[in-house]
Amino acid sequence: MDADELLATTRAVRRRLDPSREVPIELVRECVELALQAPAGSNVARTRFVVIRDPAVRTALAEIYSDIYTNSYVESAGYIGRVATADAASAEVQRRTGRSADALERALHEVGTLVLACLDGARLDGVPAFASASLLGGVLPATWSFMLAARARGLGTCWTTMHLAREREVAELLGIPFETVQQVCLTPLAFTRGTDFRPAARPAVEEVVHWDRWDPDLARPPAVAGLITEPA
Ligand SMILES: Cc1cc2nc3c(=O)[nH]c(=O)nc-3n(C[C@H](O)[C@H](O)[C@H](O)COP(=O)(O)O)c2cc1C
Repeated sequence: MDADELLATTRAVRRRLDPSREVPIELVRECVELALQAPAGSNVARTRFVVIRDPAVRTALAEIYSDIYTNSYVESAGYIGRVATADAASAEVQRRTGRSADALERALHEVGTLVLACLDGARLDGVPAFASASLLGGVLPATWSFMLAARARGLGTCWTTMHLAREREVAELLGIPFETVQQVCLTPLAFTRGTDFRPAARPAVEEVVHWDRWDPDLARPPAVAGLITEPA
C-alpha cells in the first residue's frame, strides 16, 4: 500500500474489527515505534500509550464507555447520527455512521487490545488555548501515526474520546496519575475482517482551503454541540 492509499483509507473501524484473532505484542511495539517518529513540541516525547489486554481491566473500561454512550451520549445533541447536514445524502451517511458508532459500543467489550494515548506532563483543564494547542499537538500526530501504522499491518483502530467524560474514574482503574497525565484518545486495536477500505465522502478541497486570508463566503461546519459543552 502506498502512502496516499494509506492516508485515504485509514477508516474508523468498528463493525469490521475481528476479536477472534489476537494481536501479537510485537505488532503493537512496531506501531508505537513508528508513532514516536511523529513531531513533538520542544522535541519532548510526551505521548504515552497504555496498552490494555487484561480481560478484567478492559471489561471495566468498556463498561464505562458503554454507560456514557447509552445513558448520556445517544440522547445528546452531539450524537453522531443527529449532526445537522446540508442534504439528504449526507444525512444518510451520518445516520449510517451513527449505527457504526452504536456497533462499536457493543464491540468494545470483545476486542482483546485497547490502546489509550495520553499526554504525560500536564492536564489541560482550564489551560489557555495557546498552551493546550501546543501540548495536545504533541500527542495527536503520534496517535494518528500509530493508527496509520496499525492499518499498514492489517489492524483496525477507531479514535474515541467518549470515556473522557469519566476520565478520572478511568485514571483510577489504570493507575494513571490524573493530576499530571491527560488522557487523549482510546482506540480498539484488532485485525480487520478484510483489508479493503475505501476513501470516505469528505468536503471538496475548495470548501476548506482559504487562500491568503480567511474567506467569509466559505461554508462553515455545524456549531459544536453535545459533549463538549455538556459533559456527561
Ligand atoms: C476527536 C475524535 C473523537 C472521536 N470520538 C469517537 C467516539 O467516542 N466514538 C466513536 O465511535 N467514534 C469516535 N470518533 C471517530 C469519528 O466518528 C470518525 O473519525 C468519523 O466518523 C469519520 O470516520 P471515517 O474516517 O471512517 O470516515 C472520534 C474521532 C475523533 C477525531
